[in-house]
Amino acid sequence: GRAGVVVVGSFNVDHVWRCAELPPPGATLAGDYASSAGGKGFNQAIAAARAGARTTFVCALGEDAGGRQARALAAADHLDLRAARSDAPTGTAGIFVDARGRNSIVIGAGANATLSPGFVAAQDDATAAAAVVLAQLESPVAAVAQALRGARAAGAIAILNPAPANAPTSPGLLALADILTPNESEFAALLARHADFRIDPAALAGSEDAGLHALARRLLPHGTVVLTLGASGLLVSHPPSATRGDARDCYRLAAEAADVVDTTGAGDACNGALAAALALHPQRAFREHAVFANRYAALSTERAGAAAAMPSLTCFRARHRGD
Ligand code: RIB
Ligand code: NA
Repeated sequence: GRAGVVVVGSFNVDHVWRCAELPPPGATLAGDYASSAGGKGFNQAIAAARAGARTTFVCALGEDAGGRQARALAAADHLDLRAARSDAPTGTAGIFVDARGRNSIVIGAGANATLSPGFVAAQDDATAAAAVVLAQLESPVAAVAQALRGARAAGAIAILNPAPANAPTSPGLLALADILTPNESEFAALLARHADFRIDPAALAGSEDAGLHALARRLLPHGTVVLTLGASGLLVSHPPSATRGDARDCYRLAAEAADVVDTTGAGDACNGALAAALALHPQRAFREHAVFANRYAALSTERAGAAAAMPSLTCFRARHRGD
């Protein structure tokens, strides 16, 4: 069957310093250091795989220790790894995490910046067998667009996670997505760039559902927007549809309680889990997938690290018995 997920995106070696507070300009602070695997693409692929989907990960890696680490970890989680070999160093991220689990991140794109549309297109055997294709914006826009177009051509669901917020996009990019999954700052950035509408991201979490729904419709008239709002939960906005019966076009799910240790990769957990759920259970209502993704993401914040923190289904079920 078509139970597969293809994730096209980045792998980074994350260098993480946990400190009491995030360093202001000019400050030197002491912190605990750890290095672990990350990159939005890799995190989402690991989440999709651990959530039960057969998962292909398409990326670009350097010929270095980071690249070898990516290959070993992909094998350990049974990812079907399709890695372009790059002369550039494997991607890196410098991450500061404060005592409340908040983070600041600097990305060294390295090999990720070399992922080409041609390499993505050459993986179309995986896309042809996939139910869902998922991409983010830590890879070149042309490669992302190719991934989404490939999904269209293969009849798979195309999900674009438009992260990070300051990443470049192109005029037609959003229209290639069936589902768009921004957080507040990404949503505000896309509204400014693609809908000629300016709003303070901080104002979004406090907005009424109806207002957010109208903005989502403006941004992606023919697709679904899953807007993550941190402590204000998650808002789903569908285009009006005759086939959805009496299911509502817009609703909000409350944030799940969690003992937060590290929010790094929580958005990735949500995206990977959503992709896996859509691929594994196409007959279920979208709302059930959103509930699963919301809970899966919350659980991922209770462990340190990004990819390493993605819960297994066993771990998820232990927490949400009978769901
Ligand atoms: O979304 C979290 C990820 O963003 C981290 O793993 C880091 O690599 C950056 O890409
Ligand atoms: Na985490």
